[in-house]
Amino acid sequence: MAGLTSSTIGRKYAMALSAMFLLIFLVMHLSVNLLSVFGATAYNNASQFMGYNPLIQFVMQPVLMFAVIFHFVMGFVLEIKNQRARPIGYDKNNGSANSTWSSRNMIISGGVILAFIFLHMYDFWFHEMNYKYVNGLPIEESRFWGDLHSKFADLWRVVLYVVAFGLLGVHLAHGFQSSFQSVGARHPKYTPIIKAFGNWYSILIPLGFIFIAVFHYVTQ
Ligand code: HEM
Repeated sequence: MAGLTSSTIGRKYAMALSAMFLLIFLVMHLSVNLLSVFGATAYNNASQFMGYNPLIQFVMQPVLMFAVIFHFVMGFVLEIKNQRARPIGYDKNNGSANSTWSSRNMIISGGVILAFIFLHMYDFWFHEMNYKYVNGLPIEESRFWGDLHSKFADLWRVVLYVVAFGLLGVHLAHGFQSSFQSVGARHPKYTPIIKAFGNWYSILIPLGFIFIAVFHYVTQ
């Protein structure tokens, strides 16, 4: 791990690996949460399984937490190093000529997603940890759907979430294909396919999350 994070290439590689892990997490997270749109029972069953399975709770959850924190810390480290290495006057160049807004502003979209994650943890995760591990309350399968549904009763929260999901899309639009580039997955035939897939991914995943938030708001 120390070897991976001690050089710029190693850091970019490690950053890309954590990004790929988070890309998979997002698909799983969206799939489970989409169940809440189809009915309380399916969502309650899935949440109870995820919430009380020891492998998910004590192996996958800590790995996920590590990946999230690592990704953000490493993102900021790489950004600071890039800024220091950048020749004076670089940012006055016409950046849009050879790069996208999304690629030049990963730190901004990433910062908004980080702020969203703090709100999101406060909304759902802390409540869950308190319920199970601090207060030691018994398993009550039917609570999950109601907890989620009631969170989206407030318009301000739905608006904040939707803005964050929009910026998640912007972040993914560059991040998806960039993570493949950083691990050296470049090929004249496959790179265009990865880019096209990444474009669809960065549209459909945020749209799925937006759909969930808006669905619960309008069905209060
Ligand atoms: C409408 C959209 C979303 C809903 C309804 C939702 C719902 C939830 C819920 C209910 C939990 C608590 C799970 C538990 O520990 O029992 C959770 C945790 C979490 N969510 Fe979300 N989420 C949404 C979008 C997102 C997005 C876009 C991200 C990432 C950018 C994200 C990242 C996380 C993380 C990192 C956790 C903590 C890990 C875990 O234990 O599951 N969520 N979410």
